[in-house]
Amino acid sequence: MAVAWLIWPLMLSLTAHFANSLTEAESLLKFKESLTNTKPLDSWTLDSDPCGGTQRWFGLLCKEHSVFGLKIEQMGLTGNIDVSPLIDLPGLRTISIINNSFTGKIPEFNRLTSLKSIYLSNNRFSGDIPSDYFTPMGKLKKVWLSNNEFSGHIPISLATTLPKLRELHLENNQFNGIIPNFTQRNLVHVNLSNNRLTGEIPPGLSKFKASNFAGNPGLCGAKLAATCTQPGISTASISIDGDMKDDYKSKYYISFGTLGFLFILIIILFFYLKRRKMMQRASEQDNDDDDQEIQVSKAISLVSMLKNI
Ligand SMILES: *[C@@H]1O[C@H](CO)[C@@H](O)[C@H](O)[C@H]1NC(C)=O
Ligand SMILES: *[C@@H]1O[C@H](CO)[C@@H](O)[C@H](O)[C@H]1NC(C)=O
Ligand SMILES: *[C@@H]1O[C@H](CO)[C@@H](O)[C@H](O)[C@H]1NC(C)=O
Repeated sequence: MAVAWLIWPLMLSLTAHFANSLTEAESLLKFKESLTNTKPLDSWTLDSDPCGGTQRWFGLLCKEHSVFGLKIEQMGLTGNIDVSPLIDLPGLRTISIINNSFTGKIPEFNRLTSLKSIYLSNNRFSGDIPSDYFTPMGKLKKVWLSNNEFSGHIPISLATTLPKLRELHLENNQFNGIIPNFTQRNLVHVNLSNNRLTGEIPPGLSKFKASNFAGNPGLCGAKLAATCTQPGISTASISIDGDMKDDYKSKYYISFGTLGFLFILIIILFFYLKRRKMMQRASEQDNDDDDQEIQVSKAISLVSMLKNI
């Protein structure tokens, strides 16, 4: 009897658990609902087993009859990816949606905290990635975001919260700002080329060749054609320094321009005033002449008046 009282709550919670959790097939189909152009995923149906021996669903990687990876590449897929059904796939470790037509902000893949690799390359994802986006994804080894339209700063969490990072591909995006100081020892592949990055290549990445940073006109460093203006100080202050230099430069140009304009104005004013003075003097002389004439004529009339008396 006492045992039954102990077991009963356990039984209740177990049934609740099974009632709430979807099978892998149900989860994957719910995920598929958020996609469009899913013709290539026609093999995904409820009456089959996703990791079934003979007819495994297309685009799945399986391990011990459980979904290990999602590899739905080059299918022309679009849509607003709903990540939440994938949380119910306990074995999911890798996702690749390379070469599709996804647009908009980066989906909430960071809710999948067990992922070891994520490949989003060759889509049209855009916008900023929140700086702490990768913080919950401490197991990531491979991050491929290349050939999209991502903008804003490189998320700092890539550099500070992923101790196992091995591959980082951010090339052909529109990332700007300075490069964080990546310090992961295992980082063996990095490509940051063709972005809008500025400042110095940080010490943590100095082992990589210049070609991994090509196509960022604002970058400087020993490896690159552009030398940094003040070597030896941190990247952040170089960038700020650089900005300030530009600022000063434009201010100088503006003040020189203003000075030149004022100078010309003063010269014009000077000549104008001089000319006006000359004309005034001339007319004053005329007035003097008139006065003299008047005085002369007065004198004459006075003489004639005197004569008449
Ligand atoms: C992506 O598409 C390009 C060009 O069509 C092709 O060269 C490349 O192999 C594709 N990559 C993948 C992983 O499908
Ligand atoms: C960057 O990381 C390296 C270790 O790889 C460290 O020695 C250096 O002090 C760091 N530099 C800055 C500016 O944080
Ligand atoms: C980095 O990416 C650029 C652009 O796709 C490519 O041209 C270059 O070869 C890549 N560099 C390395 C070292 O992979």
